[in-house]
This record gives sequence, structure tokens and C-alpha cells, in this order.
Amino acid sequence: MRNLVFVKPAPATPLRLVIEPPPLPQVDGGFKTILADPPWRFQNRTGKVAPEHRRLDRYSTLSLDQICAIDVASVTADNAHLYLWTPNALLVEGLKVMDAWGFRYVSNLVWAKRRKDGGPDGRGVGFYFRNVTELILFGVRGSMRTLAPARGQVNMIEARKREHSRKPDEQYELIELCSPGPYLEMFARYPQPGWTVWGDEAADDLAPRGLQHKGYAGVRAAAVPPLTSGMR
Ligand SMILES: C[S@@+](CC[C@H](N)C(=O)[O-])C[C@H]1O[C@@H](n2cnc3c(N)ncnc32)[C@H](O)[C@@H]1O
Repeated sequence: MRNLVFVKPAPATPLRLVIEPPPLPQVDGGFKTILADPPWRFQNRTGKVAPEHRRLDRYSTLSLDQICAIDVASVTADNAHLYLWTPNALLVEGLKVMDAWGFRYVSNLVWAKRRKDGGPDGRGVGFYFRNVTELILFGVRGSMRTLAPARGQVNMIEARKREHSRKPDEQYELIELCSPGPYLEMFARYPQPGWTVWGDEAADDLAPRGLQHKGYAGVRAAAVPPLTSGMR
């Protein structure tokens, strides 16, 4: 009979160094529009798609309670809009965050990920289904309608994927058309003209760590042909 050797697992090490974020920025009268893409923590924190995957080391995450505890209401105008990126698997959590930040859910926008030929980009992950969409929950604080152009704006962004977690630039155009400034982007990784950006990777002189693991090169939605019904 062969001898079995049991190897004791190495003690758990922190998944990722947490960088202390600066305090939330303030503006006179508060921000009228906030875009946020929180570093959601998933149950599986070591899988290849997890933000904290040790080797890929994309970015650190926050628990739901930590995200809810951010005092967003203190930097928000009395009447304001929130665009909150929420993973399909964490819809309930997204609604909780929206509520904790002082907004009520009214609608959503869908990012339909497209291949270069216009078909749905099925290279995403998914446990139950292969996700080719991501959601932005749209919430209102106080009372504020969307701007007039929003009435002609469909609630879908069709654009190609880029690096892990990178959201399409088309979102800025859409938001500026539908909601008034001043604009704040929370958990930003890149500067955006006309916007105040905040996050632990938002500093101009800081290259986001996730950037070293590129997915696809970004292309504008205009380059993506429209999807015809039944196309896969
Ligand atoms: C989902 S990514 C944002 C991606 C971004 N929207 C884009 O399109 O590139 C979340 C960001 O939140 C940052 N982050 C993680 N923990 C944070 C914290 N405690 N405070 C501020 N930012 C944090 C991460 O480093 C990461 O840059």
C-alpha cells in the first residue's frame, strides 16, 4: 500500500493590498449626477474572473456593507440621478446600495456586449447563463426628470468589451444627454473631461493594475452593426 502524504495548506494571505481611497469630493450644492461602478465582492474570490484573483490581481473589492456605508448622500444634490453598474448576479445588492445612498430605483439601462460583426459577444462568464449584458440601475433622489433628449434615448448601449470590468465610453455621452451636471464618477479608473472622478485608482499618475490584463481593444458603438432578431 502506498503511503499518503498530507500537505498542510498554506495559511490564508490577504487577497490584495487595500489602497486607502481619498475622501469623497464635494461641490457646491452637491453632485446632480453620480455614476458608480463599485468593486463588488463575489462569493468566489479566487476564481479567474474574480477581481482579486492572486496572479491576475485586478483590483481590491468591498463588502456590501462597506459599499452601503459610503456617505454618498452627503455629496449629492437634493435632486439627483444615480447610474449604478450592478452585476446580474447581484441585482438585490445593487438595489440595497441604491437605497443606502438615498436613491430610489426607477429604471435601468442595458449594456449589450457586441462582437465586431454585431452579434452578441458570448465570451463572457456566467454560471446559469452566459452573460452578454450588464445592467446600470437608474435611481432618483428627490424629484428630477431626465433631460428632454432622454425621451428619445433607448435604454441600451451596444458596444464591444474591453479589459476586465472596463465599461463602455458610450455611457458618458448617454448620461450627459439625459442628466445634468455636476457629474461625479465613483470608483473611476480614468479621467473623464467634465467629470469629477474618485476612486483608489482614479489619480492621474496611477495606471490601473487591471490594465495589464487586456481583453479586447475598445471600439466605438458606431462600428458595431445592429443586431438582427434571432442572431447569436
Ligand atoms: C469595477 S472597477 C471600476 C472600473 C471602471 N468603471 C472602468 O470602466 O474602468 C472598481 C474600482 O474600484 C476601486 N476600488 C476598490 N476598493 C476601493 C475603495 N475602498 N475605495 C475606492 N475605490 C476602490 C478598484 O481599485 C477599481 O479601480
